Amino acid sequence: MIIGAKIIRREKVSSTNSVAAALLSTGVVVEGTVIIAAEQSEGKGQKGNRWESEPGKNLTISIILYPTFLRPDKQFYLSKTISLAIIDTLRSFCSDLSIKWPNDIYVRNDKIAGILIESSLSGDIIESCVAGIGLNVNQTRFISNAPNPVSLKSITGHDHDLQGILKILCSECDKWYNRLRDDELELIEKSYIRYMYKFGEQHLFESSGNVFSGTIRGVDEQGKLLIENAEGKILSFAFREVDFTHSEYPSR
Ligand code: BTN
Repeated sequence: MIIGAKIIRREKVSSTNSVAAALLSTGVVVEGTVIIAAEQSEGKGQKGNRWESEPGKNLTISIILYPTFLRPDKQFYLSKTISLAIIDTLRSFCSDLSIKWPNDIYVRNDKIAGILIESSLSGDIIESCVAGIGLNVNQTRFISNAPNPVSLKSITGHDHDLQGILKILCSECDKWYNRLRDDELELIEKSYIRYMYKFGEQHLFESSGNVFSGTIRGVDEQGKLLIENAEGKILSFAFREVDFTHSEYPSR
């Protein structure tokens, strides 16, 4: 196992992804190195948002990878791989898990984990990748304006051992990353689709101010979301180009 063979633990950092990037820029870091912090002062989320995590309550980690075997046009497979590793980690703790495109991990209609992958490309090669994972474990009060956060504790009613979950998470990431390295793309694709949030259901979406009804049919090779509209036409959307309408979120 390479992921988690080396773990760098920090009490407080700005962001574990930034620590990982700094490490990468200063020298040789073994593939699979994990940086974990009890507290992040500037935890980074997607779309330039901040990632809320109460100190010492959750897992906030970054994994350093060198997926030089993967062509840049297939880099969405990294997202799929990490998403599936989180799903497999959580399966023994709770049910109703899904992946809300592109890579939010949901329990029912609430978000339990987020992923921020930052890759560094050199020509046709993915030189390095920092896979940041925020997994809500024991936090029960969330103060940011994130629409629907949830944690393992708020689902199960009791505290969970962070180190135990970290161990499982590293081993699941290792398992799925090996599948990616072994070119098991069909298995990864099928598994991702199987867990896709609202797959095959009709919903309201919003894109560039337009609200339309459609059905999620999957993702393309680049990771674009494929939605079939009311006229039976398949539309593809890049990240940030489409979202479920806000009426899809439960009010809190
Ligand atoms: C999202 O918005 O869904 C992505 C959240 C990713 C958060 C994690 S926490 C560990 C790592 N370090 C960061 O600064 N962000 C990621």
